[in-house]
Amino acid sequence: MNKNLWIVANWKSNKTIAEALEWVTQVGPQLPHQETLQVVLCPTISVLSEVKKAITVGGYPIRLGVQDLSPFGIGAYTGEEAAQLLKELVNFAILGHSERRKNFGETDEIIAKKLQQAQQAQMTGLVCLQGLETPIPQGCTLVAYEPVWAIGTGQPDTPENANQLAEQLQKLHGDDLAVLYGGSVTAANVKEFISKPNLSGVLIGNASLNEAEFIKICKIAVE
Ligand code: PGA
Repeated sequence: MNKNLWIVANWKSNKTIAEALEWVTQVGPQLPHQETLQVVLCPTISVLSEVKKAITVGGYPIRLGVQDLSPFGIGAYTGEEAAQLLKELVNFAILGHSERRKNFGETDEIIAKKLQQAQQAQMTGLVCLQGLETPIPQGCTLVAYEPVWAIGTGQPDTPENANQLAEQLQKLHGDDLAVLYGGSVTAANVKEFISKPNLSGVLIGNASLNEAEFIKICKIAVE
């Protein structure tokens, strides 16, 4: 059985509704339809509903995700977005990104609770790891290795290092753990990462914002 190849776009705190819809209508029709290719778009919550409509109307092969969710269920948690509510719009969640750990004080315990909430809502949780030292919450099957120094700097880790780390993670946690790489991935380097045997895809920030660059990345990925 061919394993899934994940291309996950993390828009972070970018794009108005109009800009998001422009991206979807440009990128959507260009994406290869391939069963094992999982293209996941994680925009801000404020554009989700409109983006979902555009994806559904266009029949585009794009899964929708969030960049974070509440560690709690539905209830009196002002400002939080519960997985049980988000599941009407998305089936995927990035969890424990280093920007959340750094700017919002997220701990490994909180991230483990968030993964539990995501799984109870039948969402796929992608847990971000800064290195081998980051604990992987129980029940996690998808992680992204994202060294902090490689994020947004234009200086990716080497595909060899990333693959070696993925191999070590799989030795520790089993072959069922799918490992992605993230940090300055572009159309120019994506092929090198995804052709490594222990890597199952990429998590992309900056390069996912530009329509032409993202289309290029997805086309290269299936070549
Ligand atoms: P980058 O971000 O691709 O801009 O380096 C990756 C990420 O933060 O997930």
